[in-house]
Amino acid sequence: MQVNGQEVRKIMVTGGAGFIGSNFIRHVHERFPEIELLNYDKLTYAGNLENLEGVTGGYSFVQGDIQDAARVEDALAGVDVVVNFAAETHVDRSIHDPGDFILTDVYGVFVLLEAVKRNGRVKRFVHISTDEVYGSIARGRFSEESPLNPSSPYSASKAGGDRLAYSYFKTFALPVLIARPANNYGPYQFPEKLIPFFVTRALRDQPLPLYGDGSHCRDWLHVDDTVRGLLLLIERGEPGQAYNLGADQERSNREVTREILAILGKPESLVQAVADRKGHDFRYALDWAKMRALGWQPQVAFADGLRRTVEWYREHEGWWKKLVEKKAYVSHLRKNYE
Ligand code: NAD
Ligand code: DAU
Repeated sequence: MQVNGQEVRKIMVTGGAGFIGSNFIRHVHERFPEIELLNYDKLTYAGNLENLEGVTGGYSFVQGDIQDAARVEDALAGVDVVVNFAAETHVDRSIHDPGDFILTDVYGVFVLLEAVKRNGRVKRFVHISTDEVYGSIARGRFSEESPLNPSSPYSASKAGGDRLAYSYFKTFALPVLIARPANNYGPYQFPEKLIPFFVTRALRDQPLPLYGDGSHCRDWLHVDDTVRGLLLLIERGEPGQAYNLGADQERSNREVTREILAILGKPESLVQAVADRKGHDFRYALDWAKMRALGWQPQVAFADGLRRTVEWYREHEGWWKKLVEKKAYVSHLRKNYE
């Protein structure tokens, strides 16, 4: 892999023990075995080194917080590209406890940017933002030029990190690129997000708490497609630009729930209508023509990706069972759903 005609030798992945970060590391490790990968992760409740089992050789791990300037500075030695996945990511948790979202998703991004500025040799800083920074859209799609109008403490923090990253391009000429992906799904996603949460509950015949009337819509992008898009951005993206990664695979939450139940052969009576999420965004939809122009388009059809994802959870009970049995997880469910 090359950037500006030079070989990429080392990539620092922050948040590499989480869902998308671990899929990114696995993919790069397989496709570019010559690239050294450094996973820098705090290991919050969402970080899990089991996501990276079997990844050895040319891979190392440092446990650290992106807010820790000295540790980040040390970790940056010899790094050519930084991909920042590290974040607090769950909207529901941001409603109950927003503090860590502001600290990691805004202040942590600032610490990383400052360290990259001082380091002076990083060729690309790819910051993972989200489609949620635009807020909800009733009809049509958001382009990268649409105003940011986030609704939750999570998306507001992500919008802060997104614009801070841009400001380091504009003010200090840091080679920053900003990715704004739609809802991701696939293996190794922590079982608090809609798809893994409902799959792991349906497998145990537990009720599926669907918010409101279930008509809220999300656009579902398989994590493999996201990873391919991010690699293209490293190689061909233009610094200072934001890029939407959408899938054109919009489904209401009720439709997704029905598809999961059908794959598992479980009854619809498991669905339980519960109070709506506070400030719940009704619909996200992206215009991703800029990514298409770079040569990217999603390859995984939702029906196939969902079936494979459900199978993955069915076959990896050992991975998720211990997560859902943890005290902190049980107390999150109690706080959020009771
Ligand atoms: P995740 O919650 O599965 O993983 C987050 C990782 O970051 C964990 O390994 C955690 O330990 C680590 N982390 C958290 N705080 C940290 C800190 N202060 N210092 C170092 N590490 C820290 O998240 P994900 O779903 O893989 O999302 C990755 C990124 O992609 C996030 O920035 C998220 O906002 C963004 N994103 C996610 C989606 C999605 O659907 N999952 C869609 C669009 C954008
Ligand atoms: O759009 C990108 C975003 O997607 C990412 O930036 C976030 O990190 C990621 O968590 C995700 O946010 P959402 O809020 O869209 O994802 P979540 O899986 O929490 O919810 C998806 C939809 O399902 C949403 O409309 C709320 C609904 N839902 C979710 C849960 C957990 C339910 O109805 N019941 C539930 O129990």
